[in-house]
Amino acid sequence: MANYWQIEGQKTFERLQPRLENIISDLPQEDQTKFWERLERQMPDILQTLVPLYGERYDFFYHLETILAAAAEYYLRRPAELKVLDVEREANTSWFQSEQMMGAVCYVDRFAGDLKHLAGKIPYFQELGITYLHLMPLFLSPEDNSDGGYAVSDYRQVDPALGTMGDLRELAHLFRENGISLVIDFVFNHTSDEHQWAEKARAGEDAYREYYFFFRDRTMPDAYEQNLREIFPEQAPGSFTYLKDIDMWVWTTFNTFQWDLNYSNPVVFREMLSEMLFLANVGVEIFRLDAVAFTWKRLGTNCENQPEAHLLIQAFFAIMQVVAPAVLFKSEAIVHPDDVVRYFGRGDRAGKECQISYNPMLMVLLWDALATRKVNLMNYALAKRFAIPDNCAWVNYVRVHDDIGWGFADEDAAMVGINGFDHRQFLNAFYTGRFEGTFARGLPFNYNPKTGDMRISGMAASLVGLEQALELGIAEYIEHAIRRHLLIHSIILSIGGIPLLYLNDEVATMNDYSYEDDPNIAQDNRWVHRPYTDWENNALRDIPGTIQHRVFSEIQRMIELRKSLPALAGNEMKLVNTHNGNIFGFVRSPDRVDKVMVLANFSEHPHFILKEVLIASGLSHKIDDLITPGSIDLKSEAVVMEPYQYRWITKVD
Ligand code: GLC
Ligand code: GLC
Repeated sequence: MANYWQIEGQKTFERLQPRLENIISDLPQEDQTKFWERLERQMPDILQTLVPLYGERYDFFYHLETILAAAAEYYLRRPAELKVLDVEREANTSWFQSEQMMGAVCYVDRFAGDLKHLAGKIPYFQELGITYLHLMPLFLSPEDNSDGGYAVSDYRQVDPALGTMGDLRELAHLFRENGISLVIDFVFNHTSDEHQWAEKARAGEDAYREYYFFFRDRTMPDAYEQNLREIFPEQAPGSFTYLKDIDMWVWTTFNTFQWDLNYSNPVVFREMLSEMLFLANVGVEIFRLDAVAFTWKRLGTNCENQPEAHLLIQAFFAIMQVVAPAVLFKSEAIVHPDDVVRYFGRGDRAGKECQISYNPMLMVLLWDALATRKVNLMNYALAKRFAIPDNCAWVNYVRVHDDIGWGFADEDAAMVGINGFDHRQFLNAFYTGRFEGTFARGLPFNYNPKTGDMRISGMAASLVGLEQALELGIAEYIEHAIRRHLLIHSIILSIGGIPLLYLNDEVATMNDYSYEDDPNIAQDNRWVHRPYTDWENNALRDIPGTIQHRVFSEIQRMIELRKSLPALAGNEMKLVNTHNGNIFGFVRSPDRVDKVMVLANFSEHPHFILKEVLIASGLSHKIDDLITPGSIDLKSEAVVMEPYQYRWITKVD
């Protein structure tokens, strides 16, 4: 039986079709048919999302029409090659859940210089087996400080230092030919203050004033700030910025030069939709939706994770399904775990919002387990929260370009007897080197004296202790640090979802303190973990006996192994009670014969678990550890785990 939205959708579709017809009338009949089919199918979703957002307006239908006219325009211009991909992906919607998927992320300039030279790195990506590459923001942005490009001045112009839009188009094509999906940020919560919309707004053009949030005095900012979280309390306190020239305040959640867009204005929705569709037509296959939590404001709340923030993404997605259904959305929500998972969409909307999402909780739990050597919090939290809708996937990572904030749930911690606040204080002390006996060399990021909160900067290799160990010159510590680094990578590569490698971690690059000398970025210590790739150092990956070689070849081997194990596809993961507080364990695809059990010892001491643990999971005979073949004594009662050892155990013939 048709529901309300289906009936409304059908009516609206019929009403709009004649008006949209002439936009795509030049396309081959087959393409036109496809457009109408998709639009008809998506119309209920389009209405179900846009009506609650803008339906109260007297001119709603006018806006709906211009939004869909924009969709038709970009469909008209969508390159044939991408239309083919659309059809392929429509027939294979779970493509991104494959065990073949392997993600990586890098800065174009810091990794390769510019877009042209990045194309030259394709053999390197292939050496690692990368199939998904996230390029950090690369559009025009303010010269001095642009928050690493997260302040976009023009979504249609590449930063001239990196190349042109033509180069990006060419690169996307080359990537696709080589089995790599291009992932780009869609920074849609804010623009830079140098974006032409911002400049026009500043110059007093009324229509553009409505693109942002302006206030004549502090009344409203004060009212809002009662409940707002400060994101950068050190470098950009508060959430509003005073503009002296026009004597007004503007909403800036992040830095002073990042102006929040006002999505209660449907024109902003349409403009940003157009920017996104434009980039989809350049060949972007996955949009990393930046700062998804902040896009909708509501007085009296913290203005994060509002219901409308979800509707906005769902509306973008429904329209994307008409114009460029090959495209996926990835959520960047660094918020409470309950809120993170909501960006997949809930109930019958699961998979209709973001299909993939950073998994900040796993990242945090890995660092927690390394510091405490205990896996209890990780076990509890993952048992409760790892499962997600079947048609979605986590993106699992050990670190990325941002700070590490201790985003586990306090209520989970309490369940295993941990006080969340105190534990964060401990983790902060541990990872900034202030805890006795720590191995970590991280930096405190944005300490907020009002809340006692801070986050951590630092390269993975420095956080796992390599920097300290090399300085002390103690072989055992160096060994432990390398093993910790590999251990956490072994988890993200196997636990379910898309693993995301932060490039330079494959050769265990350590903190880069040179940012301190650059006045534009010296105040933001996240740059300590955004190094320029040193290709001479990287070349040591080919020289046996070096740390670079050991780490690179081991990560590379695990990626290869991953791709040979169909049980590692998808999300299905069952935690294993190892009866040992230091050993983490899970089984992937437990119902398959070729299931894989992963065991990881988070301590620098050897431990063992009883064979029964394996037997209970159906792994009793003809088994082997694929990481260290032949290392399990099949006759013994127990499986020994060396310090920081990890095993991937499966049946063998
Ligand atoms: C993000 C980015 C971060 C940036 C912020 C503002 O979440 O990852 O680097 O500072 O958004 O755009
Ligand atoms: C906060 C935000 C996140 C952003 C980060 C930047 O955690 O939630 O979106 O990336 O700050 O430091």
